[in-house]
Amino acid sequence: EERNRLTVGVVGTGYVGLTSAACLAHLGHRVTGVDIDAGKVAALSRGEIPIAEPGLDTLVAEGLAEGRLAFATDLAALSRADVVLLCVPTPTGQDGTSDLHAFDAAVEALARVLSPGCVVAVKSTVPVGTTTRTELALRRPTVNNPEFLREGHAAYDFLNPDRIVIGASDHAAADRVAALYEGLSAPVLRTDPASSELAKYASNAFLAVKVSYVNVLAELCERLGADIADVAKAMRLDPRIGSAFLSPGPGWGGSCLPKDTRALLRAAGEAGVDFSVLADAMAANHHQRERVVEKVRQAVTGSPDGSLEGLRLGLLGLAFKAGTDDVRESPALAVATRLAECGAVLTGYDPGLGRADRTGGVVQLVDDVTLVAKDAAGLVLLTEWPEFRDLDWAHLADLTDRATIVDTRNLLDPDELACAGFVYFGLGR
Ligand code: UGA
Repeated sequence: EERNRLTVGVVGTGYVGLTSAACLAHLGHRVTGVDIDAGKVAALSRGEIPIAEPGLDTLVAEGLAEGRLAFATDLAALSRADVVLLCVPTPTGQDGTSDLHAFDAAVEALARVLSPGCVVAVKSTVPVGTTTRTELALRRPTVNNPEFLREGHAAYDFLNPDRIVIGASDHAAADRVAALYEGLSAPVLRTDPASSELAKYASNAFLAVKVSYVNVLAELCERLGADIADVAKAMRLDPRIGSAFLSPGPGWGGSCLPKDTRALLRAAGEAGVDFSVLADAMAANHHQRERVVEKVRQAVTGSPDGSLEGLRLGLLGLAFKAGTDDVRESPALAVATRLAECGAVLTGYDPGLGRADRTGGVVQLVDDVTLVAKDAAGLVLLTEWPEFRDLDWAHLADLTDRATIVDTRNLLDPDELACAGFVYFGLGR
């Protein structure tokens, strides 16, 4: 099987760039990842991975050993590339504006080193219009090719994509980028650059709306005496609704959904389009934290106006979702911060975080769950780590001062917790 082996450059070796580089090397291409961080490049060249992504270490080791993957600090290493993927961070401010400084700097530097026939593919999430603007600046065919990688599943998602979206004004350039993914069985959707750029924001924002919808629905279930688990189950069986992203929780967070919703809302505003469906979903997400805090207050004090001042609370999970060590825009951390503002004294345990404090001192992190339970006035489960299901709940109940638990992910079995001695509160049930 002689596939079209390409010489590929990847600019930026963060979570998207590194995953793309390692996976493309695995598919047989010759890949060089370039990063301005010399220490990171040295570590990657030794096969040391700075992020926790299942399978990525093996793919990097394989690429290095077989000579298909290399890392460099100098963009000049990409002078013979057939395709260069731009994977530099494009952070979004609170007002939804994208900071394109790193992106523009990379484009400017690339303009000086690329061969005339090189195709540039923009993988960074960029505001609509950026790819076309980049094409004009580079005077080379430039394609938008968004990534749809979930944190914690990045390598798997790259090699098993639901879809490959290629937004291009130049057919041959689109063909070149499509050739990168030869051998993967996924529909390849060719669009104009603006549609491809927008598809990325639209997908993440839709997921956010879906979770906000179910979170508000959970609140309604509590008022009306319904069970969100059953309501969601009935919804899931309709393929038009789909089975995923219908689990209530403390809100959606992470490095993508919050920033992409802000950016999309801003883009809509600038275009004069009223996207209040999205704005309301964002407001609902903010409200969700408050709702969790009030639920905790009611649960541990027995009153809607009870004081949390000086109360010891144990938090289970702080990462924005299970399977990561990431606390960026983590709803768990937002709830913790609000509880701390209300005077609660917080101890936290997260299987992904260990004792590395990334909470800014809001929570005292411990690496032993019994220390979280010890003398606590209540426990609050905030991240859906599956291993929490298997904790020795009867023992934890004994250690607490008041055996109360608020399970914001509906992860645990209420009957089992009641048997263990806990007063159990979930969401929407
Ligand atoms: C998200 C998208 O799912 C990826 O497709 C996309 O490629 C990625 O952003 C990106 O733009 O790079 P990720 O940020 O890893 O991936 O997080 P998700 O798995 O989407 O979870 C987002 C948030 O929604 C988490 O806080 C999660 O706990 C929450 N969530 C998700 C719920 O509260 N309930 C659900 O039913 C599902």
